[in-house]
Amino acid sequence: MNRNVQPRPLFGYNIFLIGFMGSGKSSVAGYLGRNYGMEVVEMDQRIAEMEGMSIPDIFAKYGEAYFRDLETEFLADLNFQSNRVVSCGGGVPMREANVAEMRKSGKIVLLTASPETIFARVKNNHDRPLLENHKNVAYISELMAQRRERYEAAADVMIETDRKTVREICREMIYRLDAQRA
Ligand code: S3P
Repeated sequence: MNRNVQPRPLFGYNIFLIGFMGSGKSSVAGYLGRNYGMEVVEMDQRIAEMEGMSIPDIFAKYGEAYFRDLETEFLADLNFQSNRVVSCGGGVPMREANVAEMRKSGKIVLLTASPETIFARVKNNHDRPLLENHKNVAYISELMAQRRERYEAAADVMIETDRKTVREICREMIYRLDAQRA
């Protein structure tokens, strides 16, 4: 294989991955970056770099509302070329303005998982202020229920991730997005 030849972009648009904390957005974005040459944009990481502090510190010092405004600003300021995969923070689709911004340059893919699966994935992590001191299935279930309607309304494609590998999730996503184009 000629390694100088760039692979043809998988999509002619951007992919915005949305979903609850622990739904697999970062893993899926990483896979698409490694295997399909997409540019990965990790929203939380970029916001933390821009602010010079971690997400928990931003919440602790300035509060959640300030962080939500940073998310909106970040999306509005992204210079949207195509062939990017943006791994969004879990709260991003809760603002209509954010959803409108994402729609301008791409497709929105919702990753879902059961509260039990989410709990298993996040239980040892301390980077998520909203779950700190609430790490249990009942709380996750409740927050998920509060968000479901907006998540689903924003999504062009919805993919269940329970018991699937990242590769399987990506293949399903590509297939479903292709089917929409046809
Ligand atoms: C949040 C999700 C987090 C991060 C912040 C708030 C949320 O991102 O943006 O802690 O409100 O769901 P991940 O979904 O990447 O964990």
